[in-house]
Amino acid sequence: MTSKVDALLAELDQLQARFDDALRDATNAEALEQVRLVFLVRKGELAQFFKRLGELDSAERPRLGERLNQLKNSFESAFAEKGAALAQPKETGEFVDLTLPGIRRRLGARHPLLQVLDEIKSIFVSMGFAIESGPEAELDYYNFEALNIPPDHPSRDMQDTFYLDLGSEAESKRYMLRTHTSPVQIRTMEKQQPPVRIIAPGRVFRRDAPDATHSPIFHQCEGLCVDEGISFADLKGTLQTFAQKLFGPDIKIRFRPGFFPFTEPSAEYDFTCTICRGKGCRTCKGTGWIEISGAGMVDPAVFGFVNYDSERYTGYAWGMGADRLAMLKLGVEDIRMFFDNDVRFLRQF
Ligand code: PHE
Repeated sequence: MTSKVDALLAELDQLQARFDDALRDATNAEALEQVRLVFLVRKGELAQFFKRLGELDSAERPRLGERLNQLKNSFESAFAEKGAALAQPKETGEFVDLTLPGIRRRLGARHPLLQVLDEIKSIFVSMGFAIESGPEAELDYYNFEALNIPPDHPSRDMQDTFYLDLGSEAESKRYMLRTHTSPVQIRTMEKQQPPVRIIAPGRVFRRDAPDATHSPIFHQCEGLCVDEGISFADLKGTLQTFAQKLFGPDIKIRFRPGFFPFTEPSAEYDFTCTICRGKGCRTCKGTGWIEISGAGMVDPAVFGFVNYDSERYTGYAWGMGADRLAMLKLGVEDIRMFFDNDVRFLRQF
């Protein structure tokens, strides 16, 4: 027959087993707190056994007392150890060296070309121009016809065009990738009366073989100003001011005779070479000038297409090669770099 003390000692063995299981299963701080509340507090399971010491004969008490004290110590130290283990960031025992440099993630950035385009826009906005846009897939009517370029006009040959095959539409309804931003002139004048003072930055497309200075996709920034009493001098002053704001006060502009069906008179215009500041270098082929684009006074025939009174209003318009300006501004020698998407290039800006 087992004595009372043996029975209690057997119960204590079971208690220990339950404590061990509960501690092992506790994987977070809340579960660990539950273990404490069940086993270790003053009214917990272990404490109950201390009370039962009184049920024993004085001769048997030390055996139980000794075992209880030993259990109490081992519960408490196992509990503390588990608490410390859970407080570690990882249970794997992995060592985290906080002195190592972190992993730096590179932030993306605005494309260099768009950075320069933003600068171009903000200069013209500061001069009172609003920003307009138009579709890249454009109608023949806007890209050519309303700009006074009829279907068989030879000047269409200057702009090798990507036509979009959307069925056998009549000529003027034909879609194409716009070859310049000038159609935005027409779209703007169709929807508003003078005064008009807008720029239209955007992407344009031509069937050009890519080389260092040509890309089938490139960017222009159109400008258009129409009001009473607008003259060529206004055009010159506007472009001159722009050139100096973008490249510095020593930059001059010059006009050379040119031809565009939608301006009369028309001109090609140049900026002082921004690389050699006019002395003559490889970039400007020794001339001291860099060709920017075309400009002129809006042809009255164009006003006819948008029902503007050409007796009352005059206007000027210009085009602007945005990629070329960006190349000059950033010192990029090959236009294709803007479109290659090579991060080693893009990261530099
Ligand atoms: N659209 C012309 C081009 O792409 C440039 C231009 C714009 C000329 C406005 C005159 C007026 O070559």
